[in-house]
Amino acid sequence: MLTDAQVRKGIAAAIKAPSLHNTQPWLFTPTGDSVLVRADVSRWLRHEDPLGRELMLSCGGAVRHLVLGLRVQGLEVRCDLLPHPTSDPEQVAVVTVVGRRPPTRRDLQLHAAAWERHTDRSAFENRPVPSDVLDQLRGMAETDGAFLDVLSADDVLELAVLTERAEALLQCEPVLRTEQARWVSTGDQPPEGLPGHALPEHGAHRGSPVRLRDFLAAPTGPAADPDRDPPVVEHPVLVVLGTRDDDRSAWLTAGWAVSGVLLTLTSLGLVASPLTQALEVAGLRSRMRTSLRLQGSPQMVLRLGYPRGPGSPQAGRRALDDVLCRS
Ligand SMILES: Cc1cc2nc3c(=O)[nH]c(=O)nc-3n(C[C@H](O)[C@H](O)[C@H](O)COP(=O)(O)O)c2cc1C
Repeated sequence: MLTDAQVRKGIAAAIKAPSLHNTQPWLFTPTGDSVLVRADVSRWLRHEDPLGRELMLSCGGAVRHLVLGLRVQGLEVRCDLLPHPTSDPEQVAVVTVVGRRPPTRRDLQLHAAAWERHTDRSAFENRPVPSDVLDQLRGMAETDGAFLDVLSADDVLELAVLTERAEALLQCEPVLRTEQARWVSTGDQPPEGLPGHALPEHGAHRGSPVRLRDFLAAPTGPAADPDRDPPVVEHPVLVVLGTRDDDRSAWLTAGWAVSGVLLTLTSLGLVASPLTQALEVAGLRSRMRTSLRLQGSPQMVLRLGYPRGPGSPQAGRRALDDVLCRS
């Protein structure tokens, strides 16, 4: 039997996972020696994410964090993804305690990183990311059943074009923008959605090869200010995480793998931000796969590097009791 304290410690880690626009689309139901993770479909962005791919990715990350939160307590766990794929597709995983086992050093490192990790949308330091770090991330993704492609300069250019196109298309969809607006806050520490301090500046006053998502886009952009200094130029590493298959199970696996990559980056002192606009337009997503010669179906694009400063705090989270359901 899992105790209440063990469950709460596990879920405390789970809710630190990243999610699309900080929607936190997950619910946890403990029963006996297991915790059932459900997708909270009331938080599903059905226009932006019609297949529920990013919903599953977000839940996959939460499942990984939950497993870490239990393992660091000396519990050995088994994780069954999609236990009832047809009769109850909202059940994304059952995590069951199957014994006791001291946590590994890696478990402890990744678990500690869950409290530090945050999406960093500010310009990165111009310092190269060592190749052994990229190899470590690649290896980690492969162990988790995914692929990690590090983009060459030519590929970055291709991605920049696809992202620019996606951003333009997404901005022209009023339904989608209304849906997204619910998750963009002007307050600094809302319990869900994107806090004001974490948003990239509107109008992208920055020099980056790939355009960040413009959460504050106005129908007409601001006029250029001639008195302003030119933007800081950054040279981030861009990686695409993909999976062989492209179904709900693969999307959960991708979320699990993305979390591993992000937590590893944090533990090494690096930061990242997802850039998923081009993945949200079906035609651009499939073009990405062929034009970047990716190993699998693209599931996540990450911009990564070293932070220039302390960065912004992690976005807020819903209270643990709001996501903990009693059976
Ligand atoms: C599937 C998915 C897609 C995301 N897409 C973007 C994106 O396009 N642009 C962005 O700035 N952040 C993106 N994010 C990051 C989330 O906004 C972020 O995880 C969330 O606001 C919580 O903040 P935190 O990562 O600081 O905890 C994405 C996250 C996930 C899981």
